[in-house]
Amino acid sequence: MNPTTNRDGSLSAATPEHETVERRVLVVGAGAAGARTAIELVERGVDPEDVLVVGKRAHGDAHTTWARGGINGALGTHDPEDDPTIHAADTLDEGHHVNDPAKVETVTERMPALLRELDEWGMEFSRTEDGRIDQRYFGAQSFRRTAFAGDYTGEAMLDTLVDRARALDIPYRENVFVSSLLVEDGRARGAVGTDLDTGEFVVFDADVVVLAAGGYTALYRRHSSRDDENTGDGPALAYLAGVPLMDVEFVQFHPTGMVGRRYGESWDGRLVTEAVRGEGGRLYNADGERFMERYSPDQMELDARDVVARAIANEIAAGRGTDHGGVYLDISHRDRSFIEERLPRMYERFADLGVDLAEEPVEVAPTAHYGMGGVRVDDDGETDVDGLYAIGETMAGVHGANRLGGNSLAETVAYGAVTGEAVAERLDDPSAPEGDDAAALAAGHLRDLGAIADRDGTHDPEALLEDLRELLWDRAGILRDGDDVAAGLSALETLREKADDLAVGAATSRSFEFALNLGFGLVVADAILRAAERRTESRGAHVRTDYPETDPDLRRNIVVEQDGVGGMRLSTDSIGTPSDAVQDALDAGYELDYHQLE
Ligand code: FUM
Repeated sequence: MNPTTNRDGSLSAATPEHETVERRVLVVGAGAAGARTAIELVERGVDPEDVLVVGKRAHGDAHTTWARGGINGALGTHDPEDDPTIHAADTLDEGHHVNDPAKVETVTERMPALLRELDEWGMEFSRTEDGRIDQRYFGAQSFRRTAFAGDYTGEAMLDTLVDRARALDIPYRENVFVSSLLVEDGRARGAVGTDLDTGEFVVFDADVVVLAAGGYTALYRRHSSRDDENTGDGPALAYLAGVPLMDVEFVQFHPTGMVGRRYGESWDGRLVTEAVRGEGGRLYNADGERFMERYSPDQMELDARDVVARAIANEIAAGRGTDHGGVYLDISHRDRSFIEERLPRMYERFADLGVDLAEEPVEVAPTAHYGMGGVRVDDDGETDVDGLYAIGETMAGVHGANRLGGNSLAETVAYGAVTGEAVAERLDDPSAPEGDDAAALAAGHLRDLGAIADRDGTHDPEALLEDLRELLWDRAGILRDGDDVAAGLSALETLREKADDLAVGAATSRSFEFALNLGFGLVVADAILRAAERRTESRGAHVRTDYPETDPDLRRNIVVEQDGVGGMRLSTDSIGTPSDAVQDALDAGYELDYHQLE
């Protein structure tokens, strides 16, 4: 990690005091993916005391709670012709065919049963009049397949998983920032973190590590996450442990983030759920024109996120945006009672801000929402390091160049179950080789952490993090070109030099966390910019204005890995083929018929 040395390049020789915690399985990340993995392990007979879930925040307060509109699974509540192969076909089509078909099919096949399981575990799904799990329209999906709990689906789901984990006595540890993984001879051996409450460093000695530590879109100026989540921890931890990243140039900009100049800067970029459009919400520019008629007359506001986000950005750039820099999203043609029932959180949030959703539109603009790329993993979620897994938004492969709304919550529970199953099986094998003492493996990083805390340098890590966010927004945003990314890489070099000279407080201070965030952010930003430079085409969410066409020869995954000290090497991987059943669904050419909604 970068900001680890003193200004004169020296490190403290003594290894700082630390606590050591031994567990067979360490799950890093306490959102839905991490919780579901731990549940699967224990349900398959692993002793809960052999497992530990660590999170950066308080228990039950992960980014999952911010996922709103729904979770996909081909239940066919309203549209019985829907099935997992069509769900897979939609996912591949909207991923512009750089997704891994095997991972996509794993998710779509498992989802109907996983939704029913969440229901059995007590999740408060919204229901049809006859009591079935209700499903709504979401963008670019051929059928109504997004199950939901009002517009607080992520919160309802995480509550359910946390209750289940508690009932199974799964141990959690809160407010721990994991900053390095331990790897010995190509095998996972644990991790090192800091207890943010006490400032104590912690060595986790584990045979298996599951990274479920989120994505990287809070590294963009306008983003839908809270500032201290999705800062690239998961991908950076894996990359620094020698694992390749993949597809990181594919960054999803959600079309409808709140506009800070209208609602207050603390709301800037926060999500106005796609469910507003799924329930019939319409987009208008400042001239009162329903502009999606020009961009996508068939799918209108429910075209894929990349299409709608670019349309909005284009309207704003052409001077047809609002005075505050957004466009209007209007659902006031729906009855008040309908809005209160289907979109209760949005209704309340805007009411608190003095806006009545049943009477007037809200102002929205695109916001960085989801990193399609992440850690390269196999079909079980295992990385190139034996015993190191990456799942949820940390992994790559399911979403390709553009994710379908509702597939992120699906991926968390599907891969939580898949990886939990694979890890439980490997724990049955008693032949795990003995290795060095984890604390000995951790010594170097512990000294680095000691050198970061109370560091007497020049630059404020939070300010540099903000500079990094501006840089990515300007140079690797909704539209990019070769000059942008080259300028971004050069500005990144300057930021990196400044990051070698940070002023940091104690290990309990926010500046310590920001310094760690910055270290990870610099790594991930470098990977995004380099991959965006390499992908000389436009595909899904990656649009190069200097290469506006899709290049069939670039239907490959761009892989970024370490090359010597501080170097990055890029290569490409080929893409698998879908099963015959999914190919048939692709050939059938299903697509959303927006006009059913009118
Ligand atoms: O708009 C939303 O509710 C987001 C859902 C998702 O990203 O899956």
